[in-house]
Amino acid sequence: MRINVNDLTFGYTQRPVLKNVTFSLTSGEFLSVVGKNGTGKSTLIKCLLKIVAVPNNTIFFDDIDINALKRFYHVGYVPQKSEITYEFPITVNEFLSYAYLKRKDAYFTSVINALDLNPIYNENINNLSGGQLQRVLIARALLNKPKLLILDEPTVSIDNESILALNNILKKLHNELTTIILSTHDLEFAREHSDCYLVLNEKYEHRFLSGKDYDDVFKYI
Ligand SMILES: Nc1ncnc2c1ncn2[C@@H]1O[C@H](COP(=O)(O)OP(=O)(O)OP(=O)(O)O)[C@@H](O)[C@H]1O
Ligand SMILES: [Mg+2]
Repeated sequence: MRINVNDLTFGYTQRPVLKNVTFSLTSGEFLSVVGKNGTGKSTLIKCLLKIVAVPNNTIFFDDIDINALKRFYHVGYVPQKSEITYEFPITVNEFLSYAYLKRKDAYFTSVINALDLNPIYNENINNLSGGQLQRVLIARALLNKPKLLILDEPTVSIDNESILALNNILKKLHNELTTIILSTHDLEFAREHSDCYLVLNEKYEHRFLSGKDYDDVFKYI
């Protein structure tokens, strides 16, 4: 999926958190959004997903203004863990079934296996550890067979084995030309995957850098 962000300005109050943000991704590009706490990474992601209202003519998926889209197809989203509570009593199995209304086929099983969810498949989601819940959220996003996958700090609180599994999944999706947007503080993880970087800073300025300009990330962060 192609993404265009065109002069996006957004704030929760009068003060903008994102100022004139402009960038484009072609299908299959991997963008890492980096910056210190509070610089607007999650806010940008919420704009892209219409979780907050954005002006017309600022964000386009495959040349269609997102405000003209009734719903998103083939978009997977892993929210930042600190922003969610899942306290209702349903099992991992039931939770993932909502994301995958079809019969549980080989693709479903491959996602469950890749994220090692079999041991917790019948647990209530409110009994999971933070890292287990994160793995379930990653699975849910993948079950959408995303053409655009957006992950907000997905490596926070998951163990090394799960980070490795996520690494492999992202490499595979990247090869298959899924467009991926990752917000992270883990610059080594970002470096392994990224075609480009969006660096946000505390003055709410931004820089869009190509993958070969990794060293400049540290200048602007
Ligand atoms: N719902 C909200 N209402 C008002 N202000 C908000 C809201 N959400 C975020 N902000 C403010 O917007 C700014 C950007 O927040 P955001 O969550 O996008 O940062 P972030 O880069 O994702 O940070 P982190 O690395 O901590 O996740 C911060 O100053 C934050 O206080
Ligand atoms: Mg955030």
